[in-house]
Amino acid sequence: MVTGAASGLGFELALLLARDGYDLILADIDADKLQQAKENLASQYASEIQLIVKDLSKNNVAEQIFEATHGKPIDVLINNAGFGIFGTFSNTDWQREMDMLNLHVMTTTHLTKLVLKGMLERGEGRILNMSSLAAFQPGPLMSLYYASKAYILSFSEAIANELKGTGVTVTCLCPGQTNTSFQQVVSNGAEASNNKIKFNIGCPKEVAKYGYEAMLKGKVVAVPGKINRFLSRLPRFLPRRTSTAIIRKIQEKNRDH
Ligand SMILES: NC(=O)c1ccc[n+]([C@@H]2O[C@H](COP(=O)([O-])OP(=O)(O)OC[C@H]3O[C@@H](n4cnc5c(N)ncnc54)[C@H](OP(=O)(O)O)[C@@H]3O)[C@@H](O)[C@H]2O)c1
Repeated sequence: MVTGAASGLGFELALLLARDGYDLILADIDADKLQQAKENLASQYASEIQLIVKDLSKNNVAEQIFEATHGKPIDVLINNAGFGIFGTFSNTDWQREMDMLNLHVMTTTHLTKLVLKGMLERGEGRILNMSSLAAFQPGPLMSLYYASKAYILSFSEAIANELKGTGVTVTCLCPGQTNTSFQQVVSNGAEASNNKIKFNIGCPKEVAKYGYEAMLKGKVVAVPGKINRFLSRLPRFLPRRTSTAIIRKIQEKNRDH
């Protein structure tokens, strides 16, 4: 099962699963885009593909998705759907922020809980949660996005530890900027604002492959790219206020605000 599978990293991860012979359950918000993704996958691989069109930011949606699978065993769960919001916290749109927090925090957590039960009964399973390089320090001008990705990292590391020896593994993928529609979707409430820093931008195919292989190995935290691995470790060696101030400068340069 892959959430946010109609485009970007979710679609690339679905391709890798199909290549390896998995049948797929793909969830996303946009029916047309999801159908296109299905046709694209079906033209290359023989997997059976079930589509679930849902807004994953809504209350109790994890339960509805789980019910729609009609008890099919889920061997791999990829909690990938997500989006970003840019702007000072005092000015950003609360409805959109609630949706983002629901999507990143509540739906990811609840879907993991629901799917985990069957995985534990079968004594095997792989969970891949999509976090970000944003998880490693506070992020002024994208405060809730950074905080929600830090939640995903912390949650994933904690349950990965609890699940040791059960046959179920949890991997948290933490990409840096990656060339998907995510960067255009990041908005300041009213208008989309494209990123301006074009340095060290990951290719979605390569990022997905790195995360997929890390998941198969049961690696807990996966940061794709040498520069990103360096950046993920840097906050450990700096006072927290310094790394926070650096992110503020980067965000100010990266987008209009
Ligand atoms: N690209 C980056 O720079 C980057 C870096 C680090 C982490 N990430 C993370 O990677 C994940 C995937 O993003 P991406 O880069 O592949 O971007 P993407 O191409 O925009 O893909 C995200 C997918 O999730 C879907 N989605 C968004 N909100 C949804 C909702 N409420 N319900 C159901 N589906 C929803 C989107 O649908 P619509 O397009 O129709 O809204 C889209 O198909 C996200 O969690 C993101 O935070 C991305």
